[in-house]
Amino acid sequence: MTLQFEEFYAWSKRELNLQLDGYKQKQLQRRITTIMKKSGSDNLTMYARTIKQDPEVKKAFLDYITINVTEFYRNDKLFAEFEQILVNDIAPKFPSLKIWSAACSTGAEAYSVAMILKKQKLENRSTIIGTDIDQTILQKAREGIYRDGEIKNIHPTDLKQYFVEKEGQYHLTDAVKKMVTFRQHDLILDAYPKDCQVIICRNVMIYFNDEVKENIFKKVSEALVPGGIFFIGATETIYNPSQYGLRKIGSFLYEKVGIEEG
Ligand SMILES: C[S@@+](CC[C@H](N)C(=O)[O-])C[C@H]1O[C@@H](n2cnc3c(N)ncnc32)[C@H](O)[C@@H]1O
Repeated sequence: MTLQFEEFYAWSKRELNLQLDGYKQKQLQRRITTIMKKSGSDNLTMYARTIKQDPEVKKAFLDYITINVTEFYRNDKLFAEFEQILVNDIAPKFPSLKIWSAACSTGAEAYSVAMILKKQKLENRSTIIGTDIDQTILQKAREGIYRDGEIKNIHPTDLKQYFVEKEGQYHLTDAVKKMVTFRQHDLILDAYPKDCQVIICRNVMIYFNDEVKENIFKKVSEALVPGGIFFIGATETIYNPSQYGLRKIGSFLYEKVGIEEG
């Protein structure tokens, strides 16, 4: 008898610590079937066995499931709106800034914020954490080497100042790299950081089912200080944000309510 998807998910939770039942099912099952066939496996039992035995197959599976597409200043107009609120509203309001880029992929988003803070001379009172479920992609983030497509929204002056071009690739300078600390974090399973002024979590919620999304909104809100902000992706929305203690303040920006004015 071959494994059904539910059993494959239970196996993947046990063996890989990957909680797949929180993802949207049709899309996920289509992706698993595609990558399974590419590995030469005909069914989930055989695929689970191959994943366990062959580190290359395991890596290909994890890479494919986690979809790592990203770029600097993704959706540049929205990023400009975020920058404006970060610099003009958030930075003056708090003595220090803890910024969390969740599901950060290759770190382009976290480093975009690092460059903004550097230009505004806010780096000395800022901490940036970049997290992702995928260890391989976090290693890339730490290396900070990017291709044309990923850097297209970076202003030429910044590109010149913060990157070194080598053989068609763009190497981020240490001065920016050292501003971000990367670590592994699963948005479904792991505890969230505390006392953040800014949380950016974009283009990952689209893969999760409603129950998981609601839980993430709740935990994000708890992770923010009152007056802190939450920046989401251009295809995402939070219905009835007040149920999570959030208030919409921009196209894809929410504020944690409850700051004491004074
Ligand atoms: C499409 S990328 C988004 C990158 C970036 N936030 C952006 O908007 O450009 C989605 C990222 O979510 C990560 N991811 C998928 N499931 C996750 C989970 N359960 N917890 C944390 N990260 C996850 C993937 O590894 C991938 O790097």
